[in-house]
Parts: sequence; structure tokens; C-alpha cells
Amino acid sequence: MAEGEWKIGILFSRTGVTAGAETSELNAALLAIEEINSSGGVLGRNLRAIDYDPGCSPPKFQEYAIRLLKEDKVRIVFGCYMSSERKVVLPQIEAFRGLLFYPTFYEGFEYSSRCFYGGAAANQNAVALAKYLIEKFGTRFLLVGSNYVFPREYNRVISELVELSGGQVVDEIYVPVEATARDFEKIIRSIKNHVPDVIVSTVVGLGSEQLFESFHSAGLDARKTPIASLTMTEAEVAKVLPEVVAGHLTSASFFENLDRPEARRFVAAFKERFGAGAPITSSAEAVYCQVHLFAKALALAGDDDPELIAKHLRGMEFEAPQGRIRIDPDNHHTELWSRIARINEAGQFEIVWQSENRIRPDVYFVTSSGDGWHAPEPQSNCNV
Ligand code: ACM
Repeated sequence: MAEGEWKIGILFSRTGVTAGAETSELNAALLAIEEINSSGGVLGRNLRAIDYDPGCSPPKFQEYAIRLLKEDKVRIVFGCYMSSERKVVLPQIEAFRGLLFYPTFYEGFEYSSRCFYGGAAANQNAVALAKYLIEKFGTRFLLVGSNYVFPREYNRVISELVELSGGQVVDEIYVPVEATARDFEKIIRSIKNHVPDVIVSTVVGLGSEQLFESFHSAGLDARKTPIASLTMTEAEVAKVLPEVVAGHLTSASFFENLDRPEARRFVAAFKERFGAGAPITSSAEAVYCQVHLFAKALALAGDDDPELIAKHLRGMEFEAPQGRIRIDPDNHHTELWSRIARINEAGQFEIVWQSENRIRPDVYFVTSSGDGWHAPEPQSNCNV
């Protein structure tokens, strides 16, 4: 570590298929670093970010992770949006004995003592979302996603929840991560053939914008068959016309127009720094919190040794823009708030449901959790 400053690595893409969402995360990380430095740094030393643009390419994520850990001698890294990015960075973090802060909502079913997960695992949004969709729209689901680990695992969870409630997944379709307009034709055909009650989309980035455009230009009606999508965030919504997204739904811990003093303060600081039109996603809010949590742990540890930092982070709480959050000491995920929003005619997210309390990260769906949805009883003949 250079004398007089704490170096931290940052890996979010400014270019590529999910650049919109990743740039929002990058901006939030930089904002938190600037806030910490302008109030004196940590133990009198500033944080210094070393960041690379991996262009949403998992091999580039891996290459830059190695560069950060090996050549830049960084021990702490914030980064990754797509789970395919995290899956190639984490083994390097483990090999070099570093620490990764991953802020994006994801599929769950993972744990590393060298990772802190700041976004929602599937149990923290899929459970409430599936319940809401079944109650409001019906039980015939059509699932679409980009072809990689997060959409496939997330859809597996949604399918199980739909089947538990006696519903049916009428079709499940994947498009390439770098999808083109033609890839969405088969999705539109399937929607027209099956006439589902609701569509759940985990298509990411530019593909998500294209999916909503295709749905709209095919004359399909969001009031009859809404698309519920975690991946149609403020970053993607900002790039399409309001009528393309009006009536559709999403689930997140944080929305830009959340009416809490901490949220208003965070949003005002972000817009002042990056411009009124710069979108703020729930993953951006998560990395903003993670940088502040890291700084608190660093002040307690007095050293950026990853194991010491991890020890101080376990159980730590933070008054986040979304509400007070807590790092689960057992699985390194975060107790988060869960919200569902509908996009209005002006392209704004209107919250239609929120959890009464923080939701614990039940990463492996070991216990029943969520808003009243219960896992099936263990089978009596189950001998594992
Ligand atoms: C994601 O791949 N976790 C969005």
C-alpha cells in the first residue's frame, strides 16, 4: 500500500451490454469514496480508487482482477454486475487472499468468506414478487432471461414458487447476453401463443430495453400481461420512452424516488455530482453502502487486511438510503428491504408493496422466509 492512502480496486464496466447499470454502480462507489475523503479519510488517510473498464466481458473482468491484486497490490475490490463476472473474479480474490464487495442482486446459492454480498439474494425479492404477481395477475407465468447463470437460477426459484402455489410456467426462453432484435421475435411469438398472466424477465442490459421495445411495438398490453423484471432498473428505463415501460413491474431494495431522508440526501448528492439525468439503481445504492461499511470496518481494524476487515464487518449495521441494513455474520449477505414498484406513465417507479421489516438473506432457501410464503415441509423419507 502506498504510504498515506488506502488503495481499493473497482471493476465496473463503462462500455458493453450492461454498461448503464454498471456505470451507476461505479458512480455510487466514487461518490462514497469522495464523501469519506472529504471528511478526512480513514484514520487520516484518503481512499484511492484504481478502476478499470472490463467492458462487460468476463475474461476481461478476470484479467483486471488479477492486475489489481497482483500488480496494483490491491487487497480490497468492489465490483461486478453480472453473476458471470463475479464467478470469474471470485476465484482470483480467493487465490490472492483479497476481499470482494459484490453489490448486485443475484441468484443466491453461494458463499465465500472472501466476499460480502450487498444486493438481494433470490429469497429477498423472488418470494414476495412471485406472491404479489400470483395474487394480482394469476398463476400462468412465462419466464424469459439472458443465457447465463443468474437468469437460469433465478427462474428455477420462480418456477418452484409458482409450482408450490399450483401455478404453471407456460414457457421458459433464453436469449444471448448480447441479444439482437431478432432474438426477441420468438419471445413475442410465445407470449402471443400462450397468453400468460405475467412475464418474468431476467434479460439484462441492452437486451432488456429491446425486450420492452419489442413487447410495445407488437401491440401487447402491460395492463393485461405485465413484465416483472429485476433487470429493468432506473438505468435501462432511462433509455426508453415512458410509454414503452408504463405499467410494467420490478422489485428492488431501493428506488430513486424513495421518500426517506437518507434516500433524498443520497439522491441529491449523486445528482449534484453526476448530473440530474444520471440514473441511480438499487445496486448503486448497495455499493454506496458497502464503501461506507468498508470504511467503518477499516477504521476499526486500522489495517486493510481482508480477514480483519471481514471480522469487523460481520453483524455491522448501516443507516442506508433504503432503510437500516445489517450484514449477516453467518453468510456475509445483507439483511435488506424488499419493495415492488410499478412504472407509471411518466416512466417513474411507484412503490406498490414493501416489506414491513428487513428480510434476512436465506441464500440457500434453508428456512421458510419472505412475506408469508412457506417452504414445503421436509419429506419424512428424506435421509440426507
Ligand atoms: C446478475 O447477473 N446478478 C444481475
